[in-house]
Amino acid sequence: MKVKVLGVEFYYDSLKVLDNVEFEVNEGELVSIIGPNGAGKTTLLKCIARILKPRKGAVYVDGVSLWSLKPREAARIVAYAETSIVPEFQLTVLDYVLTARYPHTNPVKLWEDYRDIEIVEQALRELGIAHLANRKLGQISSGELQRVILARIIAQEPKVLLIDEPTAFLDLKYRLEVMEILRKLSKEKNLTIIVAIHDLELAARYSDKLILIHKGKIVAAGSPRTVLTPENIEKTYGVKVDVIEHFKHGLIIVPLEPL
Ligand SMILES: Nc1ncnc2c1ncn2[C@@H]1O[C@H](COP(=O)(O)OP(=O)(O)OP(=O)(O)O)[C@@H](O)[C@H]1O
Ligand SMILES: [Mg+2]
Repeated sequence: MKVKVLGVEFYYDSLKVLDNVEFEVNEGELVSIIGPNGAGKTTLLKCIARILKPRKGAVYVDGVSLWSLKPREAARIVAYAETSIVPEFQLTVLDYVLTARYPHTNPVKLWEDYRDIEIVEQALRELGIAHLANRKLGQISSGELQRVILARIIAQEPKVLLIDEPTAFLDLKYRLEVMEILRKLSKEKNLTIIVAIHDLELAARYSDKLILIHKGKIVAAGSPRTVLTPENIEKTYGVKVDVIEHFKHGLIIVPLEPL
C-alpha cells in the first residue's frame, strides 16, 4: 500500500518537532529515515502509525486516513515496532509473538488457531530464534530480544511496517540478515517498509530511498547516493566525512572529524 505523508506538523506541547514533512513511499519499497539524535525520526514514525496525531497535515495509506479506521482495522494495515522498548519480561517469546495475531483473530474466539501458531513459528524461524520460543523475555540477550520484536511485527502481517531502529543491538551478521529479511519482505510480499536507522551504510545498502531529516524538516530525499553526500552529512550530523563507493555494495562512510 502507498503511504502519503502530507504537510505533517507535530508539537510536544509548544515544542515543534516536525515541520511540514511531506513524502511518499510506494508499495514494495523499503525506505530509511535517517538524521541525527533528536531530529524527529521516532516522532515521524509514530505519526504515520497513528500513535501520535499531527497538529497539521495528514497521513494516507492508499488514500485512507488511518484515523478514520477502528484500531483493529488499522492494525491489520500498519504496525509499529520499537526495538529498544522492553515488553513484559514474564511472557515467553512464543506468547509474546502470538499477541501480534490479535488483529486477525475472531473476537469471539479466545484461543489462537493452528494457522496463527504456524505464522508465529515461521517468523521465529526466519529470525533464527525458534530455539528461544519457550524462554521468558527477561531471560534473553538484547540482540535476541530485538529479533523477537521484529518477529512479532512480521507475524502481525501488516501491509505497512514501521520499525524504529531495527538493527541497533544486533551483531554484524544479524544486522545484515535483518535488513535482508526486510528487503525480501518488501519485494516478495510487496510490503511498504519504513525504518528509522542510525547505521548510514546499512541504510544506503538496503534502502530504495533515504529521507534525511534534521530539526524536524526534510533536508534531502531520494537515492542513497544523492542523499548521503559529504555536504548533507556535515550539515546535519556535524561531522566531516568521506563517502566512498564500494565496487559492489553501496557506500562507505569514513568519519574524519566532528565539527
Ligand atoms: N514525549 C516527548 N515529550 C517532549 N519532547 C519529546 C518527547 N519525545 C521526544 N521529544 C523531543 O522531540 C524531538 C524529536 O525526538 P525524536 O524521538 O522524534 O527524535 P529521533 O530522531 O528519533 O532521535 P534519536 O535518534 O535519538 O532516536 C527531540 O527534541 C526530543 O527531545
Ligand atoms: Mg528515535
